[in-house]
Amino acid sequence: MDTPAAPAALDTPQPPPLLLDALFGGGAPPGLALHTDGQAPPTPTHADAARPHVTLTFAQSLDAKIGGARGKQLALSGRESLVMTHWMRTMHDAIMVGIGTALNDDPQLNTRHVPPLPEGHPHKYHLPRPVILDADLNLLPECKLLTNYAAGTGRRPWIIAVPPTRNCVDWGLRRHDLEVAGAKVIEVERENGRVSLPSMLKALRKLGVRSLMVEGGARVIQSFLAASTEKARLVDTVIVTVAPVFVGDEGVGYGANLSSSSVDKLQHAQTAVFGRDVVFALTPTQ
Ligand SMILES: NC(=O)c1ccc[n+]([C@@H]2O[C@H](COP(=O)([O-])OP(=O)(O)OC[C@H]3O[C@@H](n4cnc5c(N)ncnc54)[C@H](OP(=O)(O)O)[C@@H]3O)[C@@H](O)[C@H]2O)c1
Repeated sequence: MDTPAAPAALDTPQPPPLLLDALFGGGAPPGLALHTDGQAPPTPTHADAARPHVTLTFAQSLDAKIGGARGKQLALSGRESLVMTHWMRTMHDAIMVGIGTALNDDPQLNTRHVPPLPEGHPHKYHLPRPVILDADLNLLPECKLLTNYAAGTGRRPWIIAVPPTRNCVDWGLRRHDLEVAGAKVIEVERENGRVSLPSMLKALRKLGVRSLMVEGGARVIQSFLAASTEKARLVDTVIVTVAPVFVGDEGVGYGANLSSSSVDKLQHAQTAVFGRDVVFALTPTQ
């Protein structure tokens, strides 16, 4: 029997132009967002082959809050910008959140909101690798990322940890439980009591990760913004969704201890309206 021909490109849902411009400088490379027979799809890459391209992205309120009182998860993104975010996920090899978000929101980090491919389409959307910044291995073995992996509906989560400073039986036990649940634990260097971001990026690149989408939460966004400087850049693209709501002082912000003199200068690349939200794409000033 003949293999059915792939539907014409026009039948395949297309990603938002803002993402194509911000991440690929214009047009869609062939095979973008699709996982084709074990082949990794095109993705943004960084000129320095020692680390992945890093896209820092999050949704915030008009008063720059990304979560509610006591960390309550907020659905800040409207439907259209949520779909845009899931398109963005299809364009990256890996997607990262901190352990605060993993415990608070129990996210799935998949691409379920991208418009479905036409029936009979020979390929699937690319699913990024979930990665958790979790120095002390506090991820719960029963979290959705691990249960989805066990059920065959998610990719194997990687946990970025640091070796304990002294012999710690509990750490070993937690590692064992997480590995039994399916996680891969990657040890990197410690910096100021946390995961060293440069060491983590180097380790991910060595494992084949060409692009990393960092989705939060507050402390992780703050760390990336603070650590990325003109001399040692760690962030290549920033994509921020701004929702037309005020959260108030009790919400969770990411700007603590960030000063305009220390944060890398960002220049505007694109703005687009998605439903009721506005999405800004920025890149570091060259
Ligand atoms: N609106 C959005 O787009 C969005 C997206 C995601 C999350 N959120 C919200 O963000 C809030 C959670 O933020 P959060 O600040 O509590 O947690 P987080 O940023 O997700 O995770 C922070 C934790 O990550 C670990 N970590 C390890 N190395 C780190 C490093 N170099 N820099 C920073 N963190 C590092 C630390 O714990 P260890 O030291 O134990 O490793 C740290 O406490 C929730 O309200 C969630 O709903 C919003």
